[in-house]
This record gives sequence, C-alpha cells and structure tokens, in this order.
Amino acid sequence: MDIEKRLHQLRSQFQKDLTTAQNAKELEALKVQYLGKKGELQGLMSLLRECTPDERPMVGKLINELKNDVTESLDRQETKLGDAELSERLKAEIDDVTLPGRRRFMGRRHIISQTLEESLDILMEMGFSVQYGPDIESEYYNFEALNFAKDHPARDMQDTFFITKDTLLRTHTSNIQIRVMEGSKPPIRVVGPGVCYRNEDITARSHVMFNQIEALYVDKKVTFGDLLSTLEEFYTKLFKNKLKLRYRPSYFPFVEPGMEVDISCIRCSGEGCVLCKQSGWLEVCGAGMVHPEVLKSGGIDPEEYTGFAFGGGIERVALLRHAISDIRFFLEDDLRFLQQF
Ligand code: DAH
Repeated sequence: MDIEKRLHQLRSQFQKDLTTAQNAKELEALKVQYLGKKGELQGLMSLLRECTPDERPMVGKLINELKNDVTESLDRQETKLGDAELSERLKAEIDDVTLPGRRRFMGRRHIISQTLEESLDILMEMGFSVQYGPDIESEYYNFEALNFAKDHPARDMQDTFFITKDTLLRTHTSNIQIRVMEGSKPPIRVVGPGVCYRNEDITARSHVMFNQIEALYVDKKVTFGDLLSTLEEFYTKLFKNKLKLRYRPSYFPFVEPGMEVDISCIRCSGEGCVLCKQSGWLEVCGAGMVHPEVLKSGGIDPEEYTGFAFGGGIERVALLRHAISDIRFFLEDDLRFLQQF
C-alpha cells in the first residue's frame, strides 16, 4: 500500500534529520517541519481522505503512531541537547580560584563625627545631657537674647549669613543657651553640638561652615572654680594628655567675666614648636560665667542662680589631635584623607 510506504519513508527521513540537529534552534526548526500546521505529518492527513473506509482506521492509527514517535524523539533530543549545552557552559564558567578577590570598602564615621562624639561622650560622663538647636535661627536667639548690642559687629551682614532681616544661619552654638533655659528649670547641665556658619574667606584655617559644641551649667552657687575644673577635666580627657590650661580675659557679650582658654601645646608641652607657633599654647574655646542679662532672657532669676558656659570648635580639636594642616580637607570628601581615621 502506497501510504504505508510513504509513512515508512517519512519515518526514516525524520530519523536522519534528527541526527543532524545540533542545537535547540535546529531542533525547533525540525519540530515545525514535521509537526507544524503545514508540516509533513499534517500533509499525510490529505492521504487519509483518499483511503477507502476499510483502510482508514488502520492508516489513522499508523499516522498517529508516527506522530507520537516524532514528538517523543524530539522531546528526548531536546533534553539531551539541553544537558550537553549546560555542561558545556558550566565547564567554561568554572571558578578561577587564582583570580584576585574584589575589595570591599568598609564605611566609617567621618573624622569630625568621631571627634564630636568623643567630646560628647566625655561631657555626658561628667553629667551633661545633649540638646540640639536649629541651624536656621532667629536673630533673637543667636544675638539679641545673648546680650549682643544692636551695633555689635558680629551682627553685621559681613560676618553673618542672613536669610531675612530676622532669620539667619547660626554663627555659633550659643543659640541653644536661651532655648534650653526657656524650656527647663535649673539645675541645667546640657551640651549642644551643631554646625555653624560664618561669612568668612575659606582658607587653611577658617571655613564658612564648621562644628561647635556648647556647654551650659546653671544652678544655685555655680562658681568660676566649677568652670575651671570642668574645662580642665574635659580637655585633659579629650587630648588624652596631662595638660596645663591658661585663661586669657576676653569679651563675649553673653558671659561676664569672659575668657579664652588655651591648653599647653600637645606636641611640645610648652617648649615651642610649629604647631603652637612657638608660643607653647593652643587656643581651644571661649568660656565664662553666664551674664545676668542672659539668665533673665532665659527666664531664670540671676539673684538666685548662676551659671557657666563654654563653647569651642570641633574642627580645631581634630586639626590639633591629628596634626592636620588644612581645615578644607574635612569637606573635600577625598577618601585618601578620610580613610586615615
Ligand atoms: N560662641 C562663641 C564663639 O563662637 C564661643 C563662646 C565663648 C562660647 C564664650 C561660650 C562662651 O559659651 O562662654 O566664638
């Protein structure tokens, strides 16, 4: 019978084709060629119509068998080729254990944050708690309530970044003093860290943006002696050194008496070197007894209470402790600099 012969031919043709298919793409093409809508097997269906009714069931069965065999063989071959391709790929991808590892950089705290945190830790251990004030401040808290006279030069546009007539970027962290006094009753023992801004030329020694901490202690019978011993303990711990402190009278509107505080040079211990510019001393902060007018602005009776305050720059401490020559390094984000700390 013609049709049986045709089926037989098709089967052997398929088997031959199957052995030549090398990859998934060629296999897919075979699938279309044999099993597709216009494929070889579909073509056999027209033969079926030409058969006599007696022959039809048998021929139908043969076509179906062939179709099943083709489908199965294609599936089997697909799995086989897939496995081979996978193991080829894995062989090529094998880990090269001699390849140098990829370095991962560890993040770390910025040197200024480290210095600030260390300063706060020492003061907290001494009984101070931390309070924050705003960077964008009113003229009142930054100057007026701190007893700055109306014509004080610090109020000048040349030193201060004004945002409006009454709003500015704080020029010091002393702004927390009044805010804290307004919000609590003595005994007050707080330390306020923060960023300050001044309209200055940017040089190795000064910047428009820097950090300060401010300490404030208000209670009955707080004395100048308390201030001196607090300063001594704080700076001795901060510089991890037996230091001498020197106090020079100075004027700050919010304290009376006011002074500038020097420590004996941490490098030469007072002999004179490049760090202290041969003077033997390093300036570290301003300090004094809180002015009665400032206590009054904070709602505290100066007849009953006294207090001391001091405030100093954090960059300055970091510069001195690590012998850094230029304050601009802190804001340049140069990893070669930052990774040293
Ligand atoms: N606020 C001053 C400044 O930025 C520093 C200062 C001086 C703070 C004397 C004080 C102080 O608390 O008593 O220059």
